[in-house]
Amino acid sequence: MPPLALVTGASSGIGRAFAERLAADGHDLIVVGRRRDRLESLAASLPEHAVEVVVADLASEDGLDTVAEQCATRPLTMLVNNAGVAHYMPLPDLPVATARELLGVKVVAPTMLTRAALPGMVERRAGTIVNVAGMLAFGGPAPAAPPPARRAIYTGTLAYAVAMGQTLHAELEGTGVDVHVVCPGIVATEFHEVQGMDLSALPRMSADDVVTAALAGIALGEVVSAPGLEDRGLLDAVFGADLAAFGGQSPQLATRYRPA
Ligand SMILES: NC(=O)c1ccc[n+]([C@@H]2O[C@H](COP(=O)([O-])OP(=O)(O)OC[C@H]3O[C@@H](n4cnc5c(N)ncnc54)[C@H](OP(=O)(O)O)[C@@H]3O)[C@@H](O)[C@H]2O)c1
Repeated sequence: MPPLALVTGASSGIGRAFAERLAADGHDLIVVGRRRDRLESLAASLPEHAVEVVVADLASEDGLDTVAEQCATRPLTMLVNNAGVAHYMPLPDLPVATARELLGVKVVAPTMLTRAALPGMVERRAGTIVNVAGMLAFGGPAPAAPPPARRAIYTGTLAYAVAMGQTLHAELEGTGVDVHVVCPGIVATEFHEVQGMDLSALPRMSADDVVTAALAGIALGEVVSAPGLEDRGLLDAVFGADLAAFGGQSPQLATRYRPA
């Protein structure tokens, strides 16, 4: 039986590129998104492959349950948690329902789909979870972007994907199952355009290159890949500093916080 991959957000951009590449590499596919026409045209463009279309809104409970059921009951060899929205806006102005949607698609859905897929993968002793995050995961210390490109929640969701992926990778050691987090910079997709931002004048990576980097990163044994970062040592330095701060704490109140 061919390996089976489920890709969320396969109706455009990076998700579509993942679906096409995984099909070319011999995978059967389950492709997920809200736009049925886009998913069906993707399936029609891959006539040699078994491609199942699942129309679901991952921000809704029903939609998430539908896709989680697929993850729990199908013998997935790869789950690509790629679907995403950004909803850049100063946080006090961000409508509550929009904030909830953003957290639903970028945090709750990848977490719950991973939770659903893992028991079967661990039992089969095979499987890879790929979470699409972004370099903004490391952008927290940057000065605020000018409005409307304020993005506290979006940045937080990407940092969540990195920390969750690293922790899960350690937990999964020895199970035959692995997790990978890919962190692209700006990519030439519809992502910014759909929220009315034109970034076409900026240098942007192709969605195809993001997929190439993620799959190469997995082959290299990287837990976190950064497709546009030439110096891998920079990423290792971040994680080394994380560990140093984590390990450097003590129950003693640090001197600088003690009353004078
Ligand atoms: N483009 C960039 O510069 C960039 C940079 C770093 C990271 N990323 C990450 O890359 C991922 C893919 O983005 P992209 O650049 O390929 O953007 P895109 O072309 O806009 O694709 C986003 C995909 O997510 C799906 N999606 C959005 N909301 C959904 C929902 N509620 N339920 C189900 N599917 C939903 C969309 O499908 P439907 O509309 O059909 O539902 C679409 O297929 C995102 O997670 C994003 O955070 C992008």
